[in-house]
Amino acid sequence: MADAKADTMRVGFIGLGIMGRSMAKNVHAAGFPVTVWNRTPSRMEEAAAWGARTAGSPREVAEVSDVVITIVGDTPDVLEVVEGPGGIFEGAREGLIYIDMSTISPEATRELAARAAERGVRMLDAPVSGGDIGARQGTLSIMVGGDADTLARVRPVLEAMGKNIVHCGPVGSGQTVKACNQILCAVTLMGVVEALAFAKRAGVDLETMLQVTTKGAGGSWALENLGRRIAQGNLDPGFSVRFQQKDLRIVLQSAESMVLPLPATALAQQMLRIVQAHGGDEDGTQALIRAMELMADMDIVPRDEASRG
Ligand SMILES: NC(=O)c1ccc[n+]([C@@H]2O[C@H](COP(=O)([O-])OP(=O)(O)OC[C@H]3O[C@@H](n4cnc5c(N)ncnc54)[C@H](OP(=O)(O)O)[C@@H]3O)[C@@H](O)[C@H]2O)c1
Repeated sequence: MADAKADTMRVGFIGLGIMGRSMAKNVHAAGFPVTVWNRTPSRMEEAAAWGARTAGSPREVAEVSDVVITIVGDTPDVLEVVEGPGGIFEGAREGLIYIDMSTISPEATRELAARAAERGVRMLDAPVSGGDIGARQGTLSIMVGGDADTLARVRPVLEAMGKNIVHCGPVGSGQTVKACNQILCAVTLMGVVEALAFAKRAGVDLETMLQVTTKGAGGSWALENLGRRIAQGNLDPGFSVRFQQKDLRIVLQSAESMVLPLPATALAQQMLRIVQAHGGDEDGTQALIRAMELMADMDIVPRDEASRG
């Protein structure tokens, strides 16, 4: 529960998608007055029903809030709701705290924070991990970049949304750690699909293989969760191929600017491109198995139960 000082903090929420709608609800449930705005207005009805005040623009949200949170899509989307017409900066006053929880470019984040500072707005980047389930349950991992005092001030708000809140360094560092997380997700999943293909080709039952390997040195969250979904023929999205491609583009662009080779990540990104080329944009990232099936010319996902043809 929020402390007395934090109780007075008015929180604005911009972006009520899969993630934002649950995060805003949890902040409200922790006792903070919440004002929301969403580009598609009908998505605000649910929030109004649980007690949010709705606004007509990001500018209006900023005008009535002490802390404004965005969780939208990609870098241009964040820039639009912050600096575009009717954006947060138009309604911002000195001392406003702005937290971007979307996954966007670390470089663009640092540049935006500098422009925010010119207006007296303190910006944190606080991307999340934990998916729609973590958002609903308030158990997200939150990676924060920015000034430590600003984080201390808003920590009660973040605690309403997450359990593992880590200050990663100066502004942009949260996005950098999120990029590391996405590298790990992509590259680990490559191992998962190769192990499944190997078992299948060699004639070992996939569930049996998973029963052993999930408990061994090769075990991982991806194997336990996504490996199992593949074996069960479930390619439904927890996290979509489309979003993972966005994140890997951010990773690879940043790596390029640092002259850092990331061969395994680049390969995973191209394998996911194969999945997209075969219509899997909105499938979960475990649909990477489709690319493996095409390369190995074999069925791995149980056909009759598969969520996609
Ligand atoms: N889903 C996950 O598992 C997950 C996990 C970790 C991090 N993330 C990150 O969290 C962010 C949001 O993900 P999500 O799953 O909630 O996405 P989503 O369901 O697609 O929702 C996106 C939200 O952003 C809004 N939006 C997008 N572009 C906009 C623009 N140019 N102007 C105004 N509003 C805009 C959308 O408004 P409309 O309603 O009008 O479309 C919607 O409210 C992304 O950066 C994603 O990478 C997602």
